[in-house]
Amino acid sequence: MSSADKNITSTHKIVQWLSERFPINEYIRQHFTHYYLPKNLNFWYFFGSLSLFIFFLQVLTGIWLTLFYIPTPEGAFNSIEIMMRDIPYGWLFRYLHSTGASAFFILIYIHIFRSFLYGSYKKPRELVWLLGVCLYIILLLEAFLGYLLPWGQASYWASQIGTSLFDSIPKFGPMLTLLIRGNNIVSGETLHRFFTFHVIAIPSILVFLTRLHLTALHKVGCNNPDGISVLAQPHNKMPVKVPFYPYYTIKELHALLIFLLIFSIIVFFVPEMHGYFLEANNFVPADPLLTPSHIEPVWYLAAFYGVLCVIPNKPLGILIMVGLLGMLFILPWLDRSPVRSIRYRGYYSRFALAAFILSFSLLSYINTTLLTPYKIFLVQILLLNYFLFFLLMPFYTKYEKNKPLPKSICGK
Ligand code: HEM
Repeated sequence: MSSADKNITSTHKIVQWLSERFPINEYIRQHFTHYYLPKNLNFWYFFGSLSLFIFFLQVLTGIWLTLFYIPTPEGAFNSIEIMMRDIPYGWLFRYLHSTGASAFFILIYIHIFRSFLYGSYKKPRELVWLLGVCLYIILLLEAFLGYLLPWGQASYWASQIGTSLFDSIPKFGPMLTLLIRGNNIVSGETLHRFFTFHVIAIPSILVFLTRLHLTALHKVGCNNPDGISVLAQPHNKMPVKVPFYPYYTIKELHALLIFLLIFSIIVFFVPEMHGYFLEANNFVPADPLLTPSHIEPVWYLAAFYGVLCVIPNKPLGILIMVGLLGMLFILPWLDRSPVRSIRYRGYYSRFALAAFILSFSLLSYINTTLLTPYKIFLVQILLLNYFLFFLLMPFYTKYEKNKPLPKSICGK
């Protein structure tokens, strides 16, 4: 027997030993070899798995950073500087994590955009969508908590403003703010709390929610770019469904390699993205006695943070901020269209989606810049547009003229 044959026999023995004690074969069947997906999934369907990949990367690089990070006001800023300058490859792990945070949000936004495009939130995938919205909110929270950890000027003052939000909640506000900060101002106690939640509590919730998100998806099955039910289709000459392994695993591997190429170029050549991924103000140690003239939020929190700057009434600002996220929860019940995919929808839906995406992108950009009175007015208009997209949805989706749906995705 050759050494290659011996290796195959011993691998086979290990797999057999394991499968007699653990349902590994059932798991592989259920989630890979016998998990069927519509055959017409396209480019937009790669972003769920890519989000999963970047999530693991954030956890791994985060564990590495935690080895050297010191969660105290005296140690935090310096420990990061030491990582960047003295610890071998410290700069790489730090940039992978900070660029990874922005990459995570870019992937998630594309993933959400795909759901809008093909109506993936509509029946029977409402729960997949709702769990996704919870994931998005928890991700925003994770990013907000992580933002304080470098203990730079931008971190410190953004957290001071962010935590003061709770102050205007009637009755319980001041008590809640004190509980979150652990002190009257953002201080060492706050840093310790944010560190604990950023490193342990929130990632555990994210893992749990991601599991639920995927379990719910596997129960109802994946949507597709035509938005028609594949389960209801007759199996005639052409297959309408193909197993995840090997058909989509090979495509997703391909997408992963392209993503890694782009991601590496950014990490190695423009990791700070000219201040969009890491702000210049954050390379100055936090000073509780020196308020910067302009506190710029990081781009993925900017759409929400901006509300506070353009709405003079604080409780109203908070209400609008909650409303921005709240709209996502009721979306599946606002859409009255008989078709799912944008491919077969009328012009109203297409126009509304384009205007919505433009408004949200502009909100995320303008709020990172210095707000002039003209920009404040523009942000207020964009916010109005955001809400109109949702509030008018029951009408424009119900009364617009759609294109006829194809009977099958076969033969395409
Ligand atoms: C940690 C974050 C997330 C991960 C790891 C994740 C992962 C995935 C994966 C792997 C899929 C299946 C493949 C695909 O459709 O791309 C999926 C589907 C889906 N996700 Fe997510 N997701 C996340 C966040 C979100 C968010 C924030 C939303 C919406 C607010 C969302 C909504 C959906 C929907 C509606 C589907 C079904 C798509 C369809 O059948 O067309 N997900 N997700």
